[in-house]
Amino acid sequence: MKELKIFSPATVANVSCGFDVLGFCLDTIGDEMIIRKTVEKGVRITKIVGADLPFETKKNVAGVAALAIMNAANPDFGVEIEIYKNIKPGSGVGSSSASASGAVWAINELLGKPYNKQELTAFGMKGEAIASGAEHADNVAPGIFGGFTLVKQLNPLKVVQLPTPSKMYATILHPQIEVKTSEARAILPKEVSLQKAIKQWANVGSFVSGLYDEDYELISDSLVDNIVEPHRSKLIPHFDAVKEAMLKAGALGAGISGSGPSIFSLCKGEENAKKVAEAVIEVYKDKSINYDVYVSKINTKGIKIINLK
Ligand code: HSE
Repeated sequence: MKELKIFSPATVANVSCGFDVLGFCLDTIGDEMIIRKTVEKGVRITKIVGADLPFETKKNVAGVAALAIMNAANPDFGVEIEIYKNIKPGSGVGSSSASASGAVWAINELLGKPYNKQELTAFGMKGEAIASGAEHADNVAPGIFGGFTLVKQLNPLKVVQLPTPSKMYATILHPQIEVKTSEARAILPKEVSLQKAIKQWANVGSFVSGLYDEDYELISDSLVDNIVEPHRSKLIPHFDAVKEAMLKAGALGAGISGSGPSIFSLCKGEENAKKVAEAVIEVYKDKSINYDVYVSKINTKGIKIINLK
């Protein structure tokens, strides 16, 4: 194999109760990337379409992640990377991590798959860190593993793959303003009260149990964030109105996708997810901000090959 074209999906991190630990993978939004073997060693970014991102390898998230895996494997070839961005940077659905995880996943295929998903997530995290100013794997892991994931710890990295209830869909509103993850992290309090922490870890536990048992009621009851959302929601125009509309239309829960501005909801069944999309459009259609709305089944496979040569 000399060349690989892949679909690297968008992802939703945090999932309300699980700041920096929970994430899930989408199916209908994602970037495409071509990763090609070269005789010349090293990593080069040769094409970027759809976003204004750096070509310099060490400043590009895909480049940094690619260097991490290439330096570890030290193969007798190099790679060049073409990135076709459909996920807008700063949208809150894992734009930088799609680039980072796509690069390492595809390079692993070209190397003959020496690394497992945990190791690939660790390489991907290196790229993600330069975009957000902090290492976290809650967007990279669902892209690599597919479905729902829980990042149990970062050092050493341990990702737990969680089950995906069969009727689970997501509806996402992307208001087209940019929220930088580093800035959305900087406004968070450094300490939280024990009372709030107790509620939050109870919700993470019951959410995970709900996924295992396909208990949609318990999942719905657990999708609460009383630590991060009160601070970050102020950065998102009409957040409260959108969340209220999503819940009123029957979503299991709604909250900020990653560091925003996208707002996600989880829904039982496609029909409900579409109804939630209509409700969101009602809120945003006469506002001055451009927006996209996506309905997606949860992608349990993660990154996919489009073609190879
Ligand atoms: N967990 C991260 C955050 C995801 O919310 O800051 C965004 O990259």
